[in-house]
Amino acid sequence: MMVCEYKPGLEGIPAAESSISFVDGQKGLLEYRGIRIEELAQKSTFLETAYLLIWGELPTKDELSAFEEEVNMHRRIKYRIRDMMKSFPESGHPMDALQASAAALGLFYSRRDLHNPAYIRDAVVRLLATIPTMVAAFQLMRKGNDPVRPHDELDYAGNFLYMLNEKIPDPLAAHVFDVCLILHAEHTMNASTFSARVTASTLTDPYAVVASAVGTLGGPLHGGANEEVIQMLEDIDSVENVRPYIEDCIQRKAKIMGFGHRVYKVKDPRATILQNLAEKLFTKFGHDKYFDIAQEMERVVEEKLSHKGIYPNVDFYSGLVYRKMGIPTDLFTPIFAIARVAGWLAHWKEQLAENRIFRPTQVYNGRHEASYIPIEKR
Ligand code: ACO
Repeated sequence: MMVCEYKPGLEGIPAAESSISFVDGQKGLLEYRGIRIEELAQKSTFLETAYLLIWGELPTKDELSAFEEEVNMHRRIKYRIRDMMKSFPESGHPMDALQASAAALGLFYSRRDLHNPAYIRDAVVRLLATIPTMVAAFQLMRKGNDPVRPHDELDYAGNFLYMLNEKIPDPLAAHVFDVCLILHAEHTMNASTFSARVTASTLTDPYAVVASAVGTLGGPLHGGANEEVIQMLEDIDSVENVRPYIEDCIQRKAKIMGFGHRVYKVKDPRATILQNLAEKLFTKFGHDKYFDIAQEMERVVEEKLSHKGIYPNVDFYSGLVYRKMGIPTDLFTPIFAIARVAGWLAHWKEQLAENRIFRPTQVYNGRHEASYIPIEKR
């Protein structure tokens, strides 16, 4: 058998062949099914983009309205899931609540008919429809309130903001939120997507696939950076403090949150899109000092670190946008999950189409022929 060199984190090792998304980190290019992210952000909606990712082609007008209608019809969650969520501790992290709730869906929809396109569609619709409802329900219930029913007249993004804030959202805020979902929907072979594909390869149900990916996304090295961006902006507190803060980080070799990316060595195209939308949002709802601090940070980091390929990533502006919408910081990663469900489901479907169970190998570096020492002699 061929012996391969061990690479920690499997860095640089292809884990699948995929036609879902493509990144060129030198050019700052991201495509979903071959379409540039800038074009999707400008012309598409999250549900249309989810359809594109999952089924590989843009839907026709009729296909899209049928899909939107199905998702709208499945937004409510069963009262037994709500009751289960009510018993979660209020102090628990919303990502843990989401992981448990997504896994619980598998109890209610336990049929596993992975070769049946109708089953696949049903699972896709149910997951896209209920994940936002579960995130919003936990947010209200941990404050001691009843969850708000989905609003039939509102689109995907607008309905989520409505369920969260109990009021019809401003159209600009709903639009910006929808674009945020598009931007976070998919990003090639990252940790949570790999986790989804490994779980999918065992032919378990799609609820387990999504629950395992949610658990993986929850870690601070993956989905949590935009929470830390907000903490950093609050710590910096004024535009005057930006330069000394950055110089201090560089001197201590500390990472500046929201900057740098394993793949992008130019500005993350998603950060450019979000920066423009953030500007519109802040112009409409009032500039606050955090936006000015962020702009100054981008200038100073570019001056000091662009030679290392360090530019803002998507998390730098998404945290600012969500904060401006009044969304609590610990919901930022669950919102990332709402978007990424589309990508995970696309990978689930792609994995099923050419499945081989993941069974990597290891480099054993333990001992051999050790003897069993009786407990009283240890
Ligand atoms: N601030 C300051 N310096 C940085 C930063 C940063 N954010 N990121 C990288 N560098 C420097 C490193 O210190 C290193 O310098 P050196 O060559 O003098 O030692 C050089 O740039 C290369 O850094 P690496 O750590 O090798 O870059 P890598 O590609 O491994 O790291 C990562 C990417 C993990 C994202 C890193 O940039 C980071 O920790 N950023 C902050 C956290 C963050 O924003 N994460 C979100 C990523 S996007 C997402 O997950 C959706």
